[in-house]
Amino acid sequence: MAVQPIVIYGNKVLREVSEKVDTINQEIKDLVSDLIDTLKKAQGLGLSAVQIGILKRVFIVDLSAVDITAKLKVFINPEIIITEGEIEFEEGCLSFPGIYQKIVRPAKVKVKALDVDGKPFELEADSLIARAILHEYDHLEGKLFIDYLSPLAKTMLKGRLKKLAKAS
Ligand code: NI
Repeated sequence: MAVQPIVIYGNKVLREVSEKVDTINQEIKDLVSDLIDTLKKAQGLGLSAVQIGILKRVFIVDLSAVDITAKLKVFINPEIIITEGEIEFEEGCLSFPGIYQKIVRPAKVKVKALDVDGKPFELEADSLIARAILHEYDHLEGKLFIDYLSPLAKTMLKGRLKKLAKAS
């Protein structure tokens, strides 16, 4: 398929809640392949459908840039079953180019979803992959990583966010 433009902060679509996928038809498979192409080009760790302007509950996570043994994973209609612990780590988002912030998130996650063939799977993850899954899952709910910042950190970032929003 094709590399799609990534929606940048300031575009209101990022605040929308994505819709459940009813059937994994060709349209959804094409969407997944667009996400894969777009993420590869952007060299990110994860990308959700809403970030290319499609409000469907689909995201991908690919940690191969930081872990050569990692495989790209597709999550359709994901559900977070449990989270555990808490850890602070620096985080970025392809919709916020150049912005990295320390964010507290659960340390572990158990998630279930469908793969691109419609096969259900469960995954228990920790460290970076847990973080990536939780970050991408938030996108499906219209939630962004800056929502976790302290009021002070948010204030300090205000000017840069404004700039991003203006350019988007
Ligand atoms: Ni993101």
